[in-house]
Amino acid sequence: YHVTWDANAAEKGGYEDFMIKEIHEQPKAIKDTMTSRIMAGQDICLDKITLTKEQLENIDKIYIVACGTAYHAGLVGKMAIEKLARIPVEVDIASEFRYRDPIITDKTMIIVVSQSGETADTLAVLRDGKKKGARVLAITNVVGSSVSREADDVFYTWAGPEIAVASTKAYVTQLVAVYTVALYLADLRGTLSKDEIEEIKKEMLTLPEKAEKLLSDVSEIQKFASKAYGEKDMFFLGRGFDYAVSLEGSLKLKEISYIHSEAYAGGELKHGPIALIEDGTVVIATLTQEALLDKMISNIREVVTRGAKVLGIAFEGSTKVEQVCDEVIYIPRTLELLAPVLSIMPHQLIAYYVAKQKGCDVDKPRNLAKSVTVE
Ligand code: AGP
Repeated sequence: YHVTWDANAAEKGGYEDFMIKEIHEQPKAIKDTMTSRIMAGQDICLDKITLTKEQLENIDKIYIVACGTAYHAGLVGKMAIEKLARIPVEVDIASEFRYRDPIITDKTMIIVVSQSGETADTLAVLRDGKKKGARVLAITNVVGSSVSREADDVFYTWAGPEIAVASTKAYVTQLVAVYTVALYLADLRGTLSKDEIEEIKKEMLTLPEKAEKLLSDVSEIQKFASKAYGEKDMFFLGRGFDYAVSLEGSLKLKEISYIHSEAYAGGELKHGPIALIEDGTVVIATLTQEALLDKMISNIREVVTRGAKVLGIAFEGSTKVEQVCDEVIYIPRTLELLAPVLSIMPHQLIAYYVAKQKGCDVDKPRNLAKSVTVE
């Protein structure tokens, strides 16, 4: 008999698509990206970052600039750096930043985030920033990429080659990168004690096994996807870190299932978007930020009274959300600061299984390229 061997089958490691393989590679990608940087009882070690305490004292503003998913990682980075290192951070989309005549001086630090390290707009921001005297740190997944060669400092994510157009494992390793940079800056500035830093590092080191546990049973998510794949619209709601994750979850769904979706900050609903909610509208609410939970629960009540069906994503044990959600996907508990690393995974899987139900080409979605090297 004749065995026909799909050329890519070997690299897909038996998975049906690169995207689902890369989703399941996330525990290893997270672990590899932390290796030799986040070590219990030892200082944060950033091999390719030469920023000294004195140089940092000279920085009065940090911009994080990127596109698409990398921009969404930047949103988490802003909140993490401001929370831990107390330095003002502004996040912007590269194609906007470069044309708005931004204020850049030799006291500016620009962190560019780019999986491919070749995105035209992001690379242009790096070059322009350096011309104006900024110090540029690149977070990238490709060794030897343009941004890695031209930045002053480089933080490599060790996600391994990401083949699927929709970014998954690169995103979670970008999160590990921005958390690590935030801790490094907090240590340099002394805004966190060694013990506080150690506590966060210890929890970061448990993320690979928590991700493994989360990914070990996706049946709930597959069930949700088999009911939701016919929807014309989907809404994603969250506040704080959960809002940043909602934006990334919405992009995942859009780019591979072609279903229109929007992410909104929970508090923004009443300023317009709630007009779109009608009987049967599907809303996915991310609910890991305890201090914002009651507000989110009242936001969800607002959409439920207008007929919305709500899927909640919450930490194990956070059963309060069952008061208002039709269904809840529970994820392993971690620090609220680190929640995005885990709470994005149900979003990735929902997008994947919805797109599969629709028969979409999840690895090569229409109209999209893996790296946008032209403007
Ligand atoms: C993410 O799923 C998309 N493929 C896209 O938004 C991507 O994140 C964006 O083009 C940025 O790419 P980069 O990280 O290689 O710069």
